[in-house]
Amino acid sequence: MGHPALSRPAAAVDDPTAPTVRRLLDDMADTLANSGGVGLAAPQIGVSVRVVLVDIPAARSEEATVRRQILINPELHWMEEAQEEAWEACLSLPELTGRVPRFRCVGYEGLNADGRLVAGIARGFHARVLQHECDHLNGVLYPMRMRDLSRFGFVEEMRPNGDVAERENWGSRPVGARRRHGRPALSG
Ligand code: NI
Repeated sequence: MGHPALSRPAAAVDDPTAPTVRRLLDDMADTLANSGGVGLAAPQIGVSVRVVLVDIPAARSEEATVRRQILINPELHWMEEAQEEAWEACLSLPELTGRVPRFRCVGYEGLNADGRLVAGIARGFHARVLQHECDHLNGVLYPMRMRDLSRFGFVEEMRPNGDVAERENWGSRPVGARRRHGRPALSG
């Protein structure tokens, strides 16, 4: 947070098949795999272009499993006016978490690594991750979407307070399972 690449609109990609884009996607995949997050945007590794990568394994969400979804020059539009709040975290704001409203259902389109159009509808957690990552392409970090900053703070400080039961549902572990490190459901 504070790096110029995270606070300005990123540039569109001219050629999704260019070797530079291929290398960028490899770097992003490595970074995401090492972070334990579920999404990453290119500006988060200092490259100010419109590329996002989403990877939601079954262990991180009961709603949607999305493996290595690449979206280049993505566009989102909401499909329903309804929003819902949930805890988010971001690899660019380590140790912090906040309660963020997002549209429940969004349409998306973009290009894949072959330059082909991909489009679909995302709901719930997948929709949330896409909104979080695409915000990075416009210099928007999740605290800028929050309505109540009293619900923004350090994971370790906030966890013992307030709606513990709700926070325990950050992930989608079976009821009664314990979170090992207090990682919020969305880290991207
Ligand atoms: Ni993020």
